[in-house]
Amino acid sequence: MEQVRRRGHEAVPVSRRTGVDLSSGAGLDAALRGADVVVHCADDTSAGDAVTVYGTRRLADAAAAGGLHLVHISIVGIDEVPMRYYQRKLRAEQSIAAAGGPATVLRATQFHSLTAFFARVLTFGPVALTFGDLAFQPVDTDHVATRLTDLALGARPPAYARAADLAGPDVLTVGELATLVRAHRGASAPRVVHLPAVGPVLKAMARGGNLPAASAARTGGRTFAAWLAEQPARLTGR
Ligand SMILES: NC(=O)c1ccc[n+]([C@@H]2O[C@H](COP(=O)([O-])OP(=O)(O)OC[C@H]3O[C@@H](n4cnc5c(N)ncnc54)[C@H](OP(=O)(O)O)[C@@H]3O)[C@@H](O)[C@H]2O)c1
Repeated sequence: MEQVRRRGHEAVPVSRRTGVDLSSGAGLDAALRGADVVVHCADDTSAGDAVTVYGTRRLADAAAAGGLHLVHISIVGIDEVPMRYYQRKLRAEQSIAAAGGPATVLRATQFHSLTAFFARVLTFGPVALTFGDLAFQPVDTDHVATRLTDLALGARPPAYARAADLAGPDVLTVGELATLVRAHRGASAPRVVHLPAVGPVLKAMARGGNLPAASAARTGGRTFAAWLAEQPARLTGR
């Protein structure tokens, strides 16, 4: 939002905090009135289909009816990794396409903070567990915001369109991530234990289903290490 304002446009935050609830539609029509573009980053992973699928559908239908350009953030690999949440994100994209209005979907890789969280939950004292060759290509949220702003202020597509996938500059294995995260709080490099990837989700991720196709992705933004260097010694949240 800061970036939109810095470029001379008006930006209005919309979420439950401002009285708009995508799971019920409360406040939505009033919030969209007079807008040219809506950038949809709202989600609630704990609410099942309510926000991710039905809330997105509600927003996409309202945006299409009002002639707004909908810019939506999605996730790289949602059609490769059969995770429940990813399947919902895929249905969300499909509902945007079905709404029929001008829309741009940007799939991004995991943000740095979520990737650091994964590295922490896979680390047990001095041991990091990984599955097959599991790796991530995390991206900085400032970089994602810049890209979303570019798409929101750029030419609107005539109908549904996918932007090139967005990722950070480095592909890092779980061992590399755990080493960086432990070093950040002054701990030694972990011993990395490789386990076989079991189950369809881990198997898909271990074969790189969560990574963008190198030829089709835009990469950039701060590296994971540069982001980490600016975080407090004790990482929290996701
Ligand atoms: N985290 C990642 O690594 C990652 C990677 C790629 C793509 N993405 C996508 O990026 C988006 C944002 O992810 P995030 O992790 O930043 O999410 P987040 O921190 O949980 O933020 C979600 C936002 O959605 C709003 N929200 C939740 N329920 C709502 C509702 N019922 N109605 C209206 N607004 C609601 C929340 O504001 P209120 O509480 O005020 O309602 C909050 O600001 C998601 O679409 C996610 O799939 C995330």
